Amino acid sequence: MKNPLILGIESSCDETAAAVICGRVLLSDEIASSASVQSKFGGVVPEIASREHLFAVDGVVKRAIDRAGIKKEDIDAVAVTYGAGLLGALLVGLSFAKGFAYGLGIPFIAVNHIRGHLAAAYLEDETLKPPFISLLASGGHTAVLFAETETKSSVLGGTRDDAVGEAFDKVARILSLPYPGGPHLETLAREGNACVPMPTMLKGAGGYDFSYSGLKTAVLNYCHNAEQRGETYSRADVAASFQRAALDVLVEKTVRGAREKGVDTVTAGGGVVANGYLREKLTSACKEAGLRLVLPIKRHCTDNAAMIASEGLLQYRAGNFAALTQNAEASIPLR
Ligand code: KG4
Ligand code: ZN
Repeated sequence: MKNPLILGIESSCDETAAAVICGRVLLSDEIASSASVQSKFGGVVPEIASREHLFAVDGVVKRAIDRAGIKKEDIDAVAVTYGAGLLGALLVGLSFAKGFAYGLGIPFIAVNHIRGHLAAAYLEDETLKPPFISLLASGGHTAVLFAETETKSSVLGGTRDDAVGEAFDKVARILSLPYPGGPHLETLAREGNACVPMPTMLKGAGGYDFSYSGLKTAVLNYCHNAEQRGETYSRADVAASFQRAALDVLVEKTVRGAREKGVDTVTAGGGVVANGYLREKLTSACKEAGLRLVLPIKRHCTDNAAMIASEGLLQYRAGNFAALTQNAEASIPLR
């Protein structure tokens, strides 16, 4: 069977993205972000996100097709994020993709954004095959999953409260860092030492579960108490200490998952996986445990359309096509 050409489209938050893959080979990968517009408001304003998508989607898709060196008539299927995300934002990409598929008479594939994050690893290594353990660490989710097949995985454990990316963003706000907080916090942490005591957050306990709300509160209390006493403190040390506490537990439970499930491969996905400290720690822990680690490049950890096309390919091969009545979903339970 020839490798299908799949166009992926993503518009769940503040990135309008389109990419073309041929089998697992990435031919183009376009992103237009409204983050600079949103940063004036200190976070994503849903209505602005929707309007920016409307403005950008046509050009981003055209560029993806041109840079892939193909004609739109060559495309075999369109894969688009239908959820989870901001409804107005999702509807822009979803409606565009439906019209595109209808116009060309080709199949339309509805992709769960989270499954997209997990599928990013397939673009990294053409030989990647389940079973493997996946770490999912994004702005909305934190979980360890066991991928049994390309389309079936089970959740070993997840967060009991905040997601790890959400905790990065909240702590970044406490430290007066601009939006988007995660990358700024990582930069600040590089200048500090992890010497501020932090709670261990279910490290070595709680099965595969995570908890981040206590960690955020610990940072808030530390900064608040120091300010009340008129003491100075190092924001960089706080950032480094938070980062270590937030990420070491992810590494520990991911490696334990691989050992307990008896698999030899680990993958990861989601915006927080762009973090250099996490990438280094996962790399050394997997090396020590004799595990193969497949990490998507940083660009494919944060929101992008290559991962949506990659998940689209798995669904295409499984024959999972969607009807043009497909709706957008603000949230989809992690199964
Ligand atoms: O996967 P993603 O782009 O969007 C969701 O699907 O949620 O993840 C966004 C999250 C944000 O919370 C952002 O602060 C975090 O990923 N993030 C990072 C880094 N880059 C993005 N967190 C820590 N370090 C980073 N370098
Ligand atoms: Zn995402």
